Amino acid sequence: MTQREPNRRETLLGLAAVGATACLPGAATADIDSLKARAERKGLLFGCAVTSRELRSEPALREAVLRDCNALVATNEMKWGVIEPARGRRVYAGADWLVDFATEHRLTMRGHTAVWHQNPPLWVPNALREPGGRALLEEHVRAVVGRYRGRIAQWDVVNEAIFHKDRQPGALRNSPFLQAFGEGYIADAFRVAREADPTAKLYYNDFAFESSEVSHEERRRDVLPLLESLRRQNLVDGIGLQAHLQVGDPFDPRRYRRFLSDLADIGLDIMLTEFDVADRRLEADTAARDRKVADYARAYLDVALDESAVKGLLTWGLSDRNTWLNADQWRRKDGVPARPLPYDDAMDRKPLWHAIAGSLDAAPVRKA
Ligand code: XIL
Repeated sequence: MTQREPNRRETLLGLAAVGATACLPGAATADIDSLKARAERKGLLFGCAVTSRELRSEPALREAVLRDCNALVATNEMKWGVIEPARGRRVYAGADWLVDFATEHRLTMRGHTAVWHQNPPLWVPNALREPGGRALLEEHVRAVVGRYRGRIAQWDVVNEAIFHKDRQPGALRNSPFLQAFGEGYIADAFRVAREADPTAKLYYNDFAFESSEVSHEERRRDVLPLLESLRRQNLVDGIGLQAHLQVGDPFDPRRYRRFLSDLADIGLDIMLTEFDVADRRLEADTAARDRKVADYARAYLDVALDESAVKGLLTWGLSDRNTWLNADQWRRKDGVPARPLPYDDAMDRKPLWHAIAGSLDAAPVRKA
């Protein structure tokens, strides 16, 4: 069955209903004006990255998540470094909590991420080189994906495996995994994940595809053969485009739209998985900054959501208070906190929230 746009009368009635229920406890979850409702009218997912600590300790965040999201992804708690800090002792407390939360509230859960060069536990790089090292990686993938069999709808099986500046065959990143096992490690990880949970959609996830800078153009070119090969072997179902944007980066709608069509032509689902909009190059003035962030996001999202292979949008955090972009490495030179997300520190909606709402409203309805 296909979904359709509500007609004008339904929209008016819906708006009236929001007005009528807005002051009732629990009304937030039924808000037809929420990002969740807007996404669902188009057959899309909308959600964000969270940690169990944030959801437990920030009631306003929790409420906003339940109002605006039909999907969730774990910011860090499913990464290898968190799950197995000491060899052979796996700790799933945070991951389990998030999967239980998602199940209880009927949110689509995304697993992030089984294989990533940046977050193996400290013992891993040496252990991979021991005889039988490959089994360690495969065991990890089997354990984490298998644990949530049937409960995690989409998995980022491999994250950030291409990096042409490392000058390796296939433009692969010179990661500890590539060094230990050669390029076959990627297909093998997907094979193990497929066995561990045949019901999950398996994704390859990566960053820096969005702008029209040469390096992004090169990455768009480099990722296609990898995906084609994995797709031919029926190992991959989708690509996660992180979409960490930065205002000021050149964006060419036509070229990006063609890239999305190329991905769809391979037969892949597409998710925008880590969306946020860095304001590092903008003035400190809050109103001006928020407006430019929103305008930049809207221009990007209108193009991205036009492709019907794009199944959803996840933001990397929901509120500026939880953004990763205030870490030393990324923070603004003037020390002013970044404002890359749809809600501000006080959990008030920003112009970016409205830009996302507008792009969701403008997106074509997905066929079921
Ligand atoms: C980041 C988290 O947001 C931080 O809290 C953590 O310290 C490092 O990882 N690309 C990814 C994400 O795929 O996993 C990263 O998340 C952000 C970049």
